[in-house]
Amino acid sequence: MKTGWYNHIRPGNITLCATAITLALTLAATLGFKNDDDKYKSWDNIKAVTARDSLLSANAFMQVYKVLMSPRCMNCHPSGDIPLNGDDNHLHPQGVKRGPDGKGVYALKCTNCHQKQNTPGLNMPPGTTEEWHLPPSNMKMVFQGKTAHELAEQLKDTKQNGGKSPHDMLEHVKTDLVKWGWNPGEGRSTPPLPYAEFVKQWNQWINSGAVAPASGEKLAR
Ligand code: HEC
Ligand code: HEC
Repeated sequence: MKTGWYNHIRPGNITLCATAITLALTLAATLGFKNDDDKYKSWDNIKAVTARDSLLSANAFMQVYKVLMSPRCMNCHPSGDIPLNGDDNHLHPQGVKRGPDGKGVYALKCTNCHQKQNTPGLNMPPGTTEEWHLPPSNMKMVFQGKTAHELAEQLKDTKQNGGKSPHDMLEHVKTDLVKWGWNPGEGRSTPPLPYAEFVKQWNQWINSGAVAPASGEKLAR
């Protein structure tokens, strides 16, 4: 008969094993979070423990902030109820407005003009697989005019971020609407960091404590 490690498994060993695993799990649960899923459910669990973490997190947000304030992102996160256009953030022409659900008003629904992909050509409507729209009027998620401090605080405030947990925020930057910024169609600039670098800094910001940088740091716009 062939022998292998499995020949040594006896019912008694299995019980011992199971007990050891149960003990380890109980210990882990008492000491902290069973797994990362639990930790990333609430912003209350996300804190910088050391001064180094705090610095890493704040610095990462300053990189993230540059992207959030770039035209590709800010144009859909305006302070008013009209989306913005172009690298100079001018008001969207054609009388386009946010509307209660962010999808436009009356005959001027965003998706009348914005398709599932960029329409080829200069000054043509951009588009992506995800429905093109602004955040709704009861949760505007404004980036325009915010300091880095204010924007960081807003992003982790579930009353202002659409109820998003740290987990949801980590996932959000993988959506096609965000990725569109790096494939914006003819004649449009891309954000100042490459996409992979943006995601890295975004994760760093949250993982090392979601620290809001000191106020006063504001990009001109
Ligand atoms: C009548 C057609 C039309 C409607 C309706 C419309 N758009 Fe547009 N949109 C355009 C066109 C055309 C452009 C491209 C303008 C350009 O590049 O000069 C554009 C560009 C944009 C841009 C600029 C992208 C960038 O980064 O420069 C945003 C943001 C935008 N639209 C949002 C919206 C939203 C949100 C809605 C609905 C609330 C909407 N649009 C409804 C035609 C429309
Ligand atoms: C076509 C419009 C559009 C563009 C372009 C856009 N967003 Fe958004 N963004 C939205 C909408 C709509 C929501 C709300 C979505 C939700 O709650 O699920 C949102 C929500 C967000 C949130 C959560 C915001 C908060 O205050 O809690 C972040 C972060 C975000 N977007 C980042 C970006 C970044 C980064 C870019 C540029 C690379 C970008 N967005 C470009 C429409 C847009």
